[in-house]
Amino acid sequence: MWENNDIKEILITREQIEKRSVELGKQITEDYRALGRTPLLVALLRGSVPFLSELMKNIDLDIQYDFMDVKSYVGTQSQGDIKILKDLDDSIKGKDILIIEDIVDTGNTLNTVCKTMYLKGATSVKIATLLDKPSRRTNNVKADYIGFEVPNVFVVGYGMDFDQRYRCLPYIGVLKEECYK
Ligand code: IMP
Ligand code: MG
Repeated sequence: MWENNDIKEILITREQIEKRSVELGKQITEDYRALGRTPLLVALLRGSVPFLSELMKNIDLDIQYDFMDVKSYVGTQSQGDIKILKDLDDSIKGKDILIIEDIVDTGNTLNTVCKTMYLKGATSVKIATLLDKPSRRTNNVKADYIGFEVPNVFVVGYGMDFDQRYRCLPYIGVLKEECYK
């Protein structure tokens, strides 16, 4: 395959992601069914799209989804500041929000997005993330549904990019150092 030369190691295979998405979908279905609620999935562009499509077919509820695109500032702006590049299309007042994310790293993005959801009138806000990198967390953001925990390495594939590349790889891998340059 074309990408093999750039990938140092495959961390998580397509089969593992598919299997884990079935488990998470079941858990989400049971949890919301027990509450008698149906979540609105809010997927954060662009990285969460493959995980969203894998997960939603395993949630056995009458769900809907919407997209949001946010950019977090690193360095130049105060920590936790985000800019909304694309906002939700519909009102979320009174809705139970399940945010779909590719990876929780420092947690800054989700910390702010969760607060924004409550400001917009959401009744509840939960997080489903494909990957969790807890070693990098700078706040107390905790995802409710986690696909896999990963060590402190830069990963690509299954939605995640380096400079917009590698998002379409059907697995999660570690990039070779020379590909960062
Ligand atoms: P946070 O605000 O630091 O949690 O950053 C979260 C965002 O940074 C994710 O949604 C990703 O878009 C990006 N990100 C963090 N770590 C990685 C990685 O290892 N590979 C690719 N993107 C990453
Ligand atoms: Mg992201």
